[in-house]
Amino acid sequence: MKLLVTGGCGFIGSNFIMHMLESYPDVDIINLDLLTYAGNLENLQDVAPYGDRHRFVRGDIADRELVRSLTSLGIDAVINFAAESHVDRSIIDSSAFVKTNVLGTQVLLDACREFKTGRFVQISTDEVYGTLGPDGAFTEDHYLAPNSPYAASKAAADLLVRSFHKTFGMDVVITRCSNNYGPYQFPEKLIPLMISNALADMELPVYGDGMNVRDWIYVTDHCRAVDTLLRKGLPGEIYNIGANCECQNIEIVSYILSRLDKPASLVRFVEDRPGHDRRYAMDSSKLRKELGWSPSVSFEDGMNQTISWYIEHEAWWKRIRSGEYITYYEKWYGRR
Ligand code: NAD
Ligand code: TYD
Repeated sequence: MKLLVTGGCGFIGSNFIMHMLESYPDVDIINLDLLTYAGNLENLQDVAPYGDRHRFVRGDIADRELVRSLTSLGIDAVINFAAESHVDRSIIDSSAFVKTNVLGTQVLLDACREFKTGRFVQISTDEVYGTLGPDGAFTEDHYLAPNSPYAASKAAADLLVRSFHKTFGMDVVITRCSNNYGPYQFPEKLIPLMISNALADMELPVYGDGMNVRDWIYVTDHCRAVDTLLRKGLPGEIYNIGANCECQNIEIVSYILSRLDKPASLVRFVEDRPGHDRRYAMDSSKLRKELGWSPSVSFEDGMNQTISWYIEHEAWWKRIRSGEYITYYEKWYGRR
């Protein structure tokens, strides 16, 4: 099986590539990644033993000729992880979000249609549904109500993917997952930001009252779900992915501080994110009941593994937290 994985040098894409190479001796992967600020070849340092079963191509999913040249090679499935993925950056400037997340997806879809690629798996997010009140959970038929430019661009891509199924009969599957955490997550997202700040004895910037709720899943459980959907998902269907693990942000931050033996005085409540969704919760019973997937890593184990990973990989995140990262950090947090 030959897969085209886009965004394979990012957090989830790199974990997914390792999962597939380790699990299936007959899977070959072309990894198309632009290496934006979030892409990092160091995330794939463990692919070496797999030789030419993994081939990296640096390039843009919105580059039509490049994408055509890759899909013309006889690809069995495309798994589209490539995206601008950070809500806060989409508030600063949404241009790259529209170009990559919307136009890039359309370019991939056109090429897959032209060269009759087997299956197109679109990696989407719970954020397309918007925000929840104190009760209930998102099901797949919940209406789309994205509140950030990031979420709006992902919702637009979902609708394009759906339309290629309805109009052209393309074999597509849309996956919507809750918040991921684990090794190789870029330290702009809540958990790796708070761990790396705490390790550096810097303040931990918590938005608003810290009581916003996210539903957390360990990254390898997400990768196993995508693998299941690649093989067994029904064409044209949407599947929620989640581990039933709701936490308030302040609970996560407090857990990290106590695990690292750092003082609570490092917490700093800062001006809220505009349009900040209050609560996410995923109902993933369709995936569990119909396809037999379930998460295997508990939140406590996942958090402990993640915190240990960041302690052991200080050089990885210290290299990232320089240059462009500092400019971004000062621009976003400096005035909060
Ligand atoms: P990430 O920001 O860590 O990685 C994104 C990767 O895409 C990077 O390697 C980057 O270089 C690459 N990329 C960006 N623009 C590109 C382009 N134009 N062409 C080719 N490559 C490009 O993101 P992530 O957290 O790994 O998220 C991966 C996917 O999963 C995204 O589609 C995201 O919307 C979705 N998702 C993420 C989460 C989460 O919690 N992180 C949850 C649900 C869904
Ligand atoms: P984030 O990791 O950016 O994921 P998303 O917004 O896509 O869910 O943020 C997770 C939660 O943590 C969200 O409620 C915003 C909050 N947050 C902070 O309080 N401080 C921060 O510095 C960041 C990055 C996030």
